[in-house]
Amino acid sequence: MSRRVLITAGASGIGYAMATAFAAEGDRVWITDVDAGALAEAPAEWQRTECNSADDAAMQALEQAVLAEWGGLDVLVANAGIKGPTAGIEEMDRAEWDACVGVNLTGAMLAARLGARLMLPAGSGVITFLSSTSGLHGTPFRTPYSAAKWGVIGLMKSVAMELGPKGIRANAICPGSVNGPRIDRVIEAEAAAKGMTPDAVREGYASGTALKRLSGASDVADMALFLASDRARMITGQAMAVDGYTYNVDP
Ligand SMILES: NC(=O)c1ccc[n+]([C@@H]2O[C@H](COP(=O)([O-])OP(=O)(O)OC[C@H]3O[C@@H](n4cnc5c(N)ncnc54)[C@H](O)[C@@H]3O)[C@@H](O)[C@H]2O)c1
Repeated sequence: MSRRVLITAGASGIGYAMATAFAAEGDRVWITDVDAGALAEAPAEWQRTECNSADDAAMQALEQAVLAEWGGLDVLVANAGIKGPTAGIEEMDRAEWDACVGVNLTGAMLAARLGARLMLPAGSGVITFLSSTSGLHGTPFRTPYSAAKWGVIGLMKSVAMELGPKGIRANAICPGSVNGPRIDRVIEAEAAAKGMTPDAVREGYASGTALKRLSGASDVADMALFLASDRARMITGQAMAVDGYTYNVDP
């Protein structure tokens, strides 16, 4: 059966890979993003809304639009996140902290609220958050990102407990470093902060995992499909790492 799937920040990166994967299953896909140009390039059959995930009013307008068009929602993927500043805690800028927590954590709450409101009338649905291995370990020089992604885990577990009795499951995916333009930016910033070459940082990321390689967006999309499927019917309240098992976060 064709599900109604909303993915925030779906115009590129992991969100786009997840949207593509759901669409390939025959699901109806709705993406949001702040990048109007990228939204315009998405497949014609996808619904799309230009919307900042950290903007309360915009997320409420999105909720009304989905309700009007679809009448409810089966799957919500709260995917929007930004990498935030790379800086030592002693240099942390308050505005940059707020912006990072605003998208990664507050944005996840606004998305979950939207999902709950659209799913509760039917008494079924799946909410999947994008956390990170930074939500399972500390991440030196990226305190706001790590703190926000740990916050997402607490949000997810609480939502799972609230909504489980009402037929709605909630989990989080914790990707490790995912190959793509975003991780290139993260690596460049970390290399500059640590006085290393980008190649050395990238190699360190891979060597700190059991599988000795970075993941791809499709690895994350496969987990999103699984969590939204009936095969995951007894899985809720879980933080699922998709990272080749990170055992050294600062090699
Ligand atoms: N890429 C990685 O290595 C990695 C690792 C772990 C976790 N994650 C998490 O996965 C999610 C997706 O990451 P990604 O690498 O695809 O991101 P990305 O940086 O490639 O951005 C994807 C999209 O998000 C959009 N976006 C940015 N801010 C937004 C906002 N406020 N509202 C709506 N859209 C916004 C961008 O315009 C872009 O189209 C994030 O939550 C991220 O923290 C990523």
